[in-house]
Amino acid sequence: MTLQLDFANIYPFIEENAFEKIGEQTRPALRTVLDRSGPGKEYLGWLDLPQQEPGTLERIQEVASGIREKDATLICIGIGGSYLGHKSVIEALQPYTDSVLYAGQNISADHLQHILDIIDEREEVYLNPISKSGTTTEPGIAFRVLRKWHEERYGEQGSASRIIATTDSSKGALRELSDQKGYQTFAIPDDVGGRYSVLTPVGLFPIAAAGIDIKALLGGAGAMRKQATSDSPENPSLRYAAVRNSLYEQGKAIEILSTFNPRLQYFTEWWKQLAGESEGKDRKGLFPASAVLSTDLHSLGQWIQDGPRNIFETFLTVKNSDHTITIEASNENADNLNYLAGKDFDAINEKAYQGTAQAHTDGGVPNLTVSVDKLSEETVGELIYFLEMAVAITGYRMDVNPFNQPGVEAYKTNMFRLLGKPGVG
Ligand code: PA5
Repeated sequence: MTLQLDFANIYPFIEENAFEKIGEQTRPALRTVLDRSGPGKEYLGWLDLPQQEPGTLERIQEVASGIREKDATLICIGIGGSYLGHKSVIEALQPYTDSVLYAGQNISADHLQHILDIIDEREEVYLNPISKSGTTTEPGIAFRVLRKWHEERYGEQGSASRIIATTDSSKGALRELSDQKGYQTFAIPDDVGGRYSVLTPVGLFPIAAAGIDIKALLGGAGAMRKQATSDSPENPSLRYAAVRNSLYEQGKAIEILSTFNPRLQYFTEWWKQLAGESEGKDRKGLFPASAVLSTDLHSLGQWIQDGPRNIFETFLTVKNSDHTITIEASNENADNLNYLAGKDFDAINEKAYQGTAQAHTDGGVPNLTVSVDKLSEETVGELIYFLEMAVAITGYRMDVNPFNQPGVEAYKTNMFRLLGKPGVG
């Protein structure tokens, strides 16, 4: 396991000798997850996902390889938990691929037209509608539009042979449509909720189609599983959750997940959904915000340094890039940057992180650091499991059900009423 935690900049805000106490206060919440005894316990299937059912991975890899061999474009059509997990892993590990595109994650005609314009120029196009419920409006309408384009391009049968639906094994409109049209399908396990589904076919199929090694990803998650499911004070997810809860109880209402690596921008988006939907209920919960640094130090940086002191920050850092670019000395030195000659970008980024962490500590922002050596399938898998477990523990410690999301229904009911959906008054 390569993931490391650094709490040094928390000690000014939580006494070092209080760490054992807050860990012990949080441990019952960890046990509630491990015993599978709390509210929402029917959605704890994610705990076991590093170990997949026999045959599942092979089938995902086979279908994904078929698409890659044809150099085809795959359009993933989903929203929320049916979008963010695979998008974040693909952005982290294959950031510049254009073989996987996304639709249905918004209601934007401009976005959908952009996708239609792109695929007009592509020879082989596969569609992957992803919806656990099978009834979500955003991906539903995008799929209807894309399906029409697809059937016109390939004919009904040709289209059906290029659509792979990821949905419930037995119910929902997408399941019915798939059965009716004869699409290949991947089933989403009943015991895994949307935001915890990245290591099911919801995420694994698009991730494999992007050329990422899903066995290694699950290997990383499995390595973290050993640590994160141990009923021990050293459990990294427990330690992180204990700090989050302790700061929350001190009135720190907002957690900012800050990364110095733009490849993790969508990872922070995935985490915002994971934490926000899991914890934000019953008038409780940390508000999950994010920042990509040093970019956002030139925008949000002022607020973080000097704004209201109701925040804490979790730095998510990657020590080594895949590439090394070194600053060279210049004879003129007209830009006065020769003092950086011989230093590479990673070394400069590291100093930016250190300087920021110190400045934010001095400015009254408690901060901790979660770091990995580099971005790889293994480390991304570790991060996924680490954060999933930390959020589940935090939710139980806050005495909420981390696995439901009753609040997301309110906007839907209003939207359906405004749109005149039959049966909605
Ligand atoms: O976490 C969740 O459950 C939600 O964010 C869902 O993933 C999202 O609403 C999409 O739902 P579905 O997969 O049913 O289309």
